[in-house]
Amino acid sequence: MAKKKLQRFADLAKMPHVFQTPDGLPGHWHSRVFHNRRPITLELGCGRGDLTLALAIKLPQRNFIGVDLKGARLWNGAKQAQLQGLANVAFLRIFIENIGEFFSPAETDEIWITFPDPYPAYSKRHKRLTSPRFLTLYQKILKPGGRIHLKTDNEGLFRYTQTAVVQQGGVIHQAFVDLDAHPTADDRLFLPTRYEQTFRKKGAIIRYLCFSVPPFDQGAERPWTRTTSMAVNAYGTH
Ligand SMILES: C[S@@+](CC[C@H](N)C(=O)[O-])C[C@H]1O[C@@H](n2cnc3c(N)ncnc32)[C@H](O)[C@@H]1O
Repeated sequence: MAKKKLQRFADLAKMPHVFQTPDGLPGHWHSRVFHNRRPITLELGCGRGDLTLALAIKLPQRNFIGVDLKGARLWNGAKQAQLQGLANVAFLRIFIENIGEFFSPAETDEIWITFPDPYPAYSKRHKRLTSPRFLTLYQKILKPGGRIHLKTDNEGLFRYTQTAVVQQGGVIHQAFVDLDAHPTADDRLFLPTRYEQTFRKKGAIIRYLCFSVPPFDQGAERPWTRTTSMAVNAYGTH
């Protein structure tokens, strides 16, 4: 493995605001990590953590956690947070599939998903971060009514997500097929990530969806049953 990558992994292991195992975390983010009771926003698939940092600087009255598996990318945001002394930022280096092991029910307030890999192939549909199995995970860790914000350049994923949300019993609050056509929109929507900058340079249209999913009901049938997941595969190669 490249020396630089190894050095970054070693750095991450020493950073007190970077977490890689669930030890003692669920139910204790406010008391042990942030030392306040302020709302927690997650950025899932945060990459270098650009949005996590920008939001944390803009909104010091909230807490932010960037989540990604790729340590060498996440290191950028973690290092910047350290250099800038941002006490309202943490990073979680995990598979998002395991996010339920890191938070207790309703411990978080809001989720951002920025330019996730679209996984257009049918065989990879379960990897889409807005597929029914992920939405179910988010239902568990979000407070009732907690909003999820998706930004993507991918029209297929944008449409797929709307269908998945509705089938999950969720509510779509805003759906912008072209974010730039809504210049009066919430200015948090115009904080660009690394991937967004790349896509914009290529002339891509940026899409935005804001939605919520109903509170998790443990007694209910698991919502990502075969019928549902087949029905929401609105795009991709079959
Ligand atoms: C296309 S990049 C976007 C990065 C960043 N949000 C941006 O806009 O610049 C997608 C990121 O999601 C992460 N990711 C995708 N699936 C993941 C998963 N299941 N668990 C953890 N991270 C994941 C990848 O490692 C990658 O950094």
